[in-house]
Amino acid sequence: MAHEGLHEEERDLSKKTLDMHRALVSLQEELEAVDWYRQRAEACGDAQLKSVLLHNMRDEIEHAAMLIEWLRRSDNDFEGQLNTFVFNNGDIVEAEAKAEAEAEAETGAEAAEPSPDDDDKRPTIGTLKEQST
Ligand SMILES: [Fe+2]
Repeated sequence: MAHEGLHEEERDLSKKTLDMHRALVSLQEELEAVDWYRQRAEACGDAQLKSVLLHNMRDEIEHAAMLIEWLRRSDNDFEGQLNTFVFNNGDIVEAEAKAEAEAEAETGAEAAEPSPDDDDKRPTIGTLKEQST
Protein backbone atom coordinates (compact mmCIF):
# COMPACT_ATOMS: atom_id res chain seq x y z
CA MET A 1 0.00 0.00 0.00
CA ALA A 2 1.20 3.47 -0.75
CA HIS A 3 1.78 5.35 2.45
CA GLU A 4 1.20 8.82 1.10
CA GLY A 5 -1.43 10.68 3.01
CA LEU A 6 -1.23 8.75 6.24
CA HIS A 7 -0.89 11.14 9.14
CA GLU A 8 -0.08 8.48 11.71
CA GLU A 9 2.15 5.43 11.73
CA GLU A 10 0.49 2.62 9.78
CA ARG A 11 1.15 0.19 12.66
CA ASP A 12 -1.04 2.36 14.91
CA LEU A 13 -4.02 2.27 12.53
CA SER A 14 -6.75 -0.35 12.33
CA LYS A 15 -7.63 -2.27 9.17
CA LYS A 16 -10.88 -0.29 9.04
CA THR A 17 -9.06 3.03 9.19
CA LEU A 18 -6.64 1.92 6.47
CA ASP A 19 -9.52 0.79 4.25
CA MET A 20 -11.33 4.07 4.93
CA HIS A 21 -8.13 5.88 3.95
CA ARG A 22 -8.00 3.93 0.69
CA ALA A 23 -11.61 4.80 -0.08
CA LEU A 24 -11.28 8.46 0.90
CA VAL A 25 -8.12 9.00 -1.14
CA SER A 26 -9.72 7.21 -4.08
CA LEU A 27 -12.83 9.40 -3.79
CA GLN A 28 -10.63 12.48 -3.71
CA GLU A 29 -8.91 11.32 -6.91
CA GLU A 30 -12.20 10.55 -8.66
CA LEU A 31 -13.64 13.97 -7.78
CA GLU A 32 -10.48 15.68 -8.95
CA ALA A 33 -10.75 13.80 -12.26
CA VAL A 34 -14.39 14.90 -12.63
CA ASP A 35 -13.28 18.50 -12.21
CA TRP A 36 -10.42 18.14 -14.68
CA TYR A 37 -12.52 16.42 -17.38
CA ARG A 38 -15.31 19.00 -17.00
CA GLN A 39 -12.86 21.90 -17.44
CA ARG A 40 -11.12 20.25 -20.39
CA ALA A 41 -14.43 19.48 -22.11
CA GLU A 42 -15.71 23.00 -21.60
CA ALA A 43 -12.56 24.55 -23.08
CA CYS A 44 -12.24 22.03 -25.93
CA GLY A 45 -13.05 23.23 -29.44
CA ASP A 46 -13.24 19.80 -31.06
CA ALA A 47 -16.77 18.38 -30.75
CA GLN A 48 -15.71 14.70 -30.84
CA LEU A 49 -12.99 15.17 -28.23
CA LYS A 50 -15.41 17.16 -26.09
CA SER A 51 -17.83 14.23 -26.26
CA VAL A 52 -15.11 11.78 -25.17
CA LEU A 53 -14.05 14.04 -22.30
CA LEU A 54 -17.65 14.36 -21.07
CA HIS A 55 -18.05 10.59 -21.31
CA ASN A 56 -14.92 10.14 -19.22
CA MET A 57 -16.16 12.71 -16.71
CA ARG A 58 -19.39 10.73 -16.27
CA ASP A 59 -17.37 7.55 -15.72
CA GLU A 60 -15.46 9.31 -12.94
CA ILE A 61 -18.76 10.40 -11.37
CA GLU A 62 -19.82 6.73 -11.43
CA HIS A 63 -16.59 5.75 -9.69
CA ALA A 64 -17.09 8.46 -7.07
CA ALA A 65 -20.67 7.32 -6.44
CA MET A 66 -19.52 3.72 -5.96
CA LEU A 67 -16.98 4.87 -3.38
CA ILE A 68 -19.57 6.98 -1.56
CA GLU A 69 -21.82 3.93 -1.38
CA TRP A 70 -18.93 1.85 0.01
CA LEU A 71 -18.33 4.54 2.64
CA ARG A 72 -22.04 4.52 3.53
CA ARG A 73 -22.06 0.77 4.00
CA SER A 74 -18.80 0.72 5.91
CA ASP A 75 -19.11 3.59 8.36
CA ASN A 76 -22.04 4.52 10.59
CA ASP A 77 -21.18 8.20 10.59
CA PHE A 78 -21.19 8.37 6.79
CA GLU A 79 -24.42 6.38 6.71
CA GLY A 80 -26.10 8.74 9.16
CA GLN A 81 -25.02 11.90 7.35
CA LEU A 82 -25.92 10.54 3.92
CA ASN A 83 -29.33 9.48 5.23
CA THR A 84 -29.86 13.04 6.43
CA PHE A 85 -28.67 14.94 3.38
CA VAL A 86 -28.77 12.76 0.25
CA PHE A 87 -31.94 12.34 -1.83
CA ASN A 88 -33.84 14.77 0.38
CA ASN A 89 -35.27 17.54 -1.74
CA GLY A 90 -35.86 20.06 1.03
CA ASP A 91 -33.54 22.81 2.17
CA ILE A 92 -30.09 21.31 2.82
CA VAL A 93 -29.30 23.40 5.90
CA GLU A 94 -32.73 22.83 7.40
CA ALA A 95 -32.22 19.08 7.02
CA GLU A 96 -29.55 19.22 9.71
CA ALA A 97 -31.79 21.03 12.18
CA LYS A 98 -34.63 18.62 11.42
CA ALA A 99 -32.39 15.59 11.98
CA GLU A 100 -31.11 17.01 15.27
CA ALA A 101 -34.65 17.73 16.43
CA GLU A 102 -35.71 14.19 15.54
CA ALA A 103 -32.74 12.77 17.44
CA GLU A 104 -33.59 14.87 20.48
CA ALA A 105 -37.22 13.76 20.34
CA GLU A 106 -36.14 10.11 20.23
CA THR A 107 -33.69 10.36 23.12
CA GLY A 108 -35.38 13.10 25.11
CA ALA A 109 -32.06 14.88 25.31
CA GLU A 110 -29.65 16.68 23.09
CA ALA A 111 -27.79 14.15 20.98
CA ALA A 112 -24.27 13.47 22.19
CA GLU A 113 -21.36 13.40 19.80
CA PRO A 114 -20.79 9.79 18.75
CA SER A 115 -17.72 8.02 20.02
CA PRO A 116 -15.54 5.99 17.66
CA ASP A 117 -16.30 3.09 20.00
CA ASP A 118 -19.97 3.39 19.00
CA ASP A 119 -19.13 1.75 15.67
CA ASP A 120 -18.79 -1.56 17.44
CA LYS A 121 -22.19 -1.22 19.12
CA ARG A 122 -24.42 0.19 16.42
CA PRO A 123 -26.04 -2.11 13.87
CA THR A 124 -24.78 -1.92 10.33
CA ILE A 125 -26.38 -3.12 7.12
CA GLY A 126 -24.11 -6.16 7.37
CA THR A 127 -25.09 -7.07 10.94
CA LEU A 128 -28.75 -6.50 10.18
CA LYS A 129 -28.51 -8.85 7.20
CA GLU A 130 -26.77 -11.43 9.37
CA GLN A 131 -29.56 -11.15 11.97
CA SER A 132 -32.30 -11.60 9.36
CA THR A 133 -30.88 -14.82 7.91
FE1 LIG B 1 -12.11 6.74 -12.03
